[in-house]
Amino acid sequence: MKMDVIVSLCKRRGFIFQSSEIYGGTGSCWDYGPLGVELKNNIKAAWWRDNVHLRPDMVGQDASILMHPSVWKASGHVDHFTDPMVDCKACQHRFRADKIDETPWVHFCPATKNNKFTIPAGEPCSHCGARRTLCPDCGAGELTPPRQFNLMFKTFMGPVEEDAAVAYLRPETAQGIFVNFDNVLQSMRLKLPFGVAQVGKAFRNEITPGNFIFRSREFEQMEIEFFVNPHDVVDGRPADEVWHDRWIEDRFGWYQRYGVRRENLQIREHDKGELAHYAKRTVDIEYHFPMGWSELEGIANRTDFDLKQHAQWSGKTLTYFDEERKTHVVPYVIEPSAGADRSVLAFLCDAYQEEEVRGEKRVVLRFHRDIAPVKIAVLPLLKKRADIVATGHELRTRLARRWVTVYDDTAAIGRLYRRQDEVGTRYCVTVDVKTVGDREKGETGDQKVTIRERDSMEQIRVPLADLDTVFGRLMGDAGWSEVAAAYPRAEA
Ligand code: GAP
Repeated sequence: MKMDVIVSLCKRRGFIFQSSEIYGGTGSCWDYGPLGVELKNNIKAAWWRDNVHLRPDMVGQDASILMHPSVWKASGHVDHFTDPMVDCKACQHRFRADKIDETPWVHFCPATKNNKFTIPAGEPCSHCGARRTLCPDCGAGELTPPRQFNLMFKTFMGPVEEDAAVAYLRPETAQGIFVNFDNVLQSMRLKLPFGVAQVGKAFRNEITPGNFIFRSREFEQMEIEFFVNPHDVVDGRPADEVWHDRWIEDRFGWYQRYGVRRENLQIREHDKGELAHYAKRTVDIEYHFPMGWSELEGIANRTDFDLKQHAQWSGKTLTYFDEERKTHVVPYVIEPSAGADRSVLAFLCDAYQEEEVRGEKRVVLRFHRDIAPVKIAVLPLLKKRADIVATGHELRTRLARRWVTVYDDTAAIGRLYRRQDEVGTRYCVTVDVKTVGDREKGETGDQKVTIRERDSMEQIRVPLADLDTVFGRLMGDAGWSEVAAAYPRAEA
């Protein structure tokens, strides 16, 4: 599967557009179109329901993007949230020094009369054996020595642009949870272990954004800070280690629960040299994206680092009173941190399938029912018949009260089905002549419609009066074959 295929589908079918496209676009920011916003909202809603509403040990919050500048001093972002950057002295292109060997490079080979070649990342030239020493883009310029580049976006709070008014766009949502630790603890009378969840925008001035929505400068995170008493022991092991394992398992299973295939997911353990200075252990959940295995979510044991730092910088006490041991403790924190945009990309890539149906290519997004942007499409078989069209509109209005339902009569039925398959709509409902009958001939119609299921393309004939019950079951736990068994099959 190529990224280009996904990018083009996303633009063509209204999922994702390049930001400010009419002005030439920005490669680093993306806009979600009508179907994209539904898809992303569904992912965030499933995440929130499973991690906040369904758990007795979790609560949610929504902190502001602009925070006190000391937050970022305390967290270490002002001093350490940097990437090493190099510039080409000839073409002025910028690169991350630590990632430069992971990009293909341009080479003018002396062994072949200086012919130009683009050589795969990390490999030597097969003609002269040289390895890259110059700029990978132009192949001619020398690179500057690496300089540390801070990834936070700076702005000014209030009407003066001076150092005292500097504020940062948050580079992660996590710090909003740490600084509200005591507010949430006291107001909700929580007992350890408990977690706080937050979904929101984060901003990073990435040196090399790319791979569509995988790495952008404005993105959304779905983060959990799960606080654990470091003195607790579970099954003979420190509680923070046990909870870390539990969260890894839970989050790894979550993507699969919504349809991501097991073979496209893996766990990668950070080795000691890679660990952030505050982390006791970190694992990444990686997805097999079109450009290779890459991070979808990180799950870190951040110890008591953040709460201690904020206590020190703010002068406030950020502890928990352990009733049993009659002592104040600084909780350890397990942080499952997922990207909403990377999840959108993973769900899109995983759902995409091409198949041949009656000699024609069918593109289908096999989204899970909770993730699919549109649940039902109502399609009239004949748009010239006013009674069919009116029944279709009425039906759309009725179903849309409970499920995202669209109406479309802009093409012939075969083409309408293909369009809905391509955006992952689970069910199409067709209103036809038999449904409404023929008033001129005195026929009342059977008041039944055809429901077509996306994956099997099977069709059943169902009374209009049954639709709420049928879709209620299909959007709940009942499978298609179980529900379909009660109704006669309709011709495909
Ligand atoms: N609070 C921890 C934290 O922010 P991170 O690994 O830097 O950890 C967490 O980010 C998640 O946020 C990543 O796993 C990824 O899904 C997402 N993410 C990070 N940088 C991103 C970017 N530039 N574009 C899109 N998503 C990004």
